[in-house]
Amino acid sequence: MRKKLLAGNWKMNKLNAELSDYFEQFTKALRLNETQVKNQVDTLFAVPYLLLEKSASIAQKFGISIAAQNVHWEKSGAFTGEVSISMLKELRVQTTLIGHSERRQYFGETDETVTKKVKACLENGMTPIVCVGERREEREQGKTSQVVSRQMQAFLEVISSPGSLIVAYEPVWAIGTGLSATSDQAQEVHALIRDILSKKFGKGTADTIRILYGGSASPKNVDDLFTKPDIDGCLVGGASLKPDEFAAMVLAGR
Ligand code: 13P
Repeated sequence: MRKKLLAGNWKMNKLNAELSDYFEQFTKALRLNETQVKNQVDTLFAVPYLLLEKSASIAQKFGISIAAQNVHWEKSGAFTGEVSISMLKELRVQTTLIGHSERRQYFGETDETVTKKVKACLENGMTPIVCVGERREEREQGKTSQVVSRQMQAFLEVISSPGSLIVAYEPVWAIGTGLSATSDQAQEVHALIRDILSKKFGKGTADTIRILYGGSASPKNVDDLFTKPDIDGCLVGGASLKPDEFAAMVLAGR
């Protein structure tokens, strides 16, 4: 049985000055004590680097994890503007997104850099949430399986054990558009991802790996998404910026 994970991705939003209010409203909206929340569903926020320290000190009291949105694969050195795994670990941050489509689209992230990052994370005790997903034209050309398989195989080739790996399927055309994939469309790709993981690590291990759906996930479609056997949680952009909406999605994961 895989425990659901509701992960918010704040992208480049919010300020340190907004954190206390957000988490107060969020935990109030959950109307559960922290032990109950923790037992029933895992909750995580991927926040901008400069918000990590304060978010972690507030959120960890409630059993909520804080993650980064990116990390560099090298330990240290002349990489202006980059952040290392040990810098994140110094702040007790144990998880990071890798290969989000916005990083692929705007910041030159490729299957190759994703692979280096995933390898570095797994070798250094950092949980990678690896994002994969096809663009609109790729889906229209019937290339969804091909694209997702390529993105998965790239990093799987260099790892021998999945460690704490989490995968997020985020169809690019569904991100920030209000046009979520249907639960059937999402399940089809999640099943493909699990099959790829099974071939690499064996079915028993693949069955323990969480696969999140992201792309206009909201309180409106989360119940439907969660009826599907291979959807183990959501990676949520817009709706995670609103504490009431994100809390409703966490409650749906129980
Ligand atoms: P939206 O939920 O705003 O579509 O964003 C999804 C996403 O990119 C999460 O990483």
